[in-house]
Amino acid sequence: MNILVTGGAGYIGSHTAVELLNAGHKVVVVDDLSNAKYEVIDRIKEITGKKLDFYWIDCADKEKLWDVFRNQDIDAVIHFAGFKAVGESVRKPLQYYRNNLDSTLTLLEVMEEFDCKKLVFSSSATVYGPDNPHPYKEEMPAIQSSSPYGWTKVMIERILTDYCTAHPDFCAILLRYFNPIGAHESGLLGDDPNGIPNNLMPYIGRVAAGKLEKLTIFGGDYDTADGTCQRDYLHVVDLALGHLKALEYAAEHQGVEAINLGTGNGISVLELVTAFEKVNDMKLPYEIGPRRDGDLPAFWADAAKAKELLGWEATHTVDDMCRSSWLFARNASI
Ligand code: UFG
Repeated sequence: MNILVTGGAGYIGSHTAVELLNAGHKVVVVDDLSNAKYEVIDRIKEITGKKLDFYWIDCADKEKLWDVFRNQDIDAVIHFAGFKAVGESVRKPLQYYRNNLDSTLTLLEVMEEFDCKKLVFSSSATVYGPDNPHPYKEEMPAIQSSSPYGWTKVMIERILTDYCTAHPDFCAILLRYFNPIGAHESGLLGDDPNGIPNNLMPYIGRVAAGKLEKLTIFGGDYDTADGTCQRDYLHVVDLALGHLKALEYAAEHQGVEAINLGTGNGISVLELVTAFEKVNDMKLPYEIGPRRDGDLPAFWADAAKAKELLGWEATHTVDDMCRSSWLFARNASI
């Protein structure tokens, strides 16, 4: 298939592009490089030894996106493009709603014009909101979030659901990611955010590399086994492979389907820090600080639906995630 990957220079998008190319698909990447580097495109080519077409455009720019569809025979789209920083979205809600919603609406309009009916969307476990019990199951209400970023995911899921109702021959797969960490085994691709990282693993990577002084663990007094928050961390390569499976499923089906991509296991911040130290044979300077606003004490996936419907399950271990994260962080150019 010829697959359009929006946001394909980003963390999850780039790993997915690699797996698509490895599986023999053609890949077209559009990315405005607002939170990614061009170098990533070269690295995808280096890892796979394959070509890909790259367009440096904002996918909310309809004319330019239209040109991409006119020049390429796109069979399906994986839509990653979007702003994703929870804290920033609280400070800049209009920017988040404008960017994330506009790009999706534009993409759908252009897909419709070119009769492209297969879409895999990058959603998030954040759509389960604060009220559902964990493990989160797909049939639970997914209509709440705690940040404008999260609300854009809720809203886009709604838009895609309504679109599928109006166009029963369209297929939209809503992939609800848990906490992706880890990096490509080559050490060439990984999570490399601009500025000081908000997410745990890139922060740990920079502390380990001596670029940041110490990790602050947000909260040590939660009602969990060791007092720190629990999350379902999954390896980004497993996550990327989940997109391939979702694409194969979409090729054969119609309608909307929400699917969790997680391991089904929760581990705590302290457990992750300890695993990182052990597998990489180092000590990480850290302190326990106050809780971070908006953090939930614990959540993880019920991963049964992904296995049943897509034949997908995560295979990488926490040690794999920690080892590859460090391999990338110590080689990262910035
Ligand atoms: N954490 C720290 N110190 C840090 C960074 C994070 O202790 O410097 C802790 C957090 O408190 C949390 C855990 O590490 O307990 C994971 O935090 P991340 O920021 O890595 O991930 P979140 O679980 O907060 O965020 C994820 C996704 C978002 C999604 C959100 C919804 O990355 O896309 O879940 O809850 F919106």
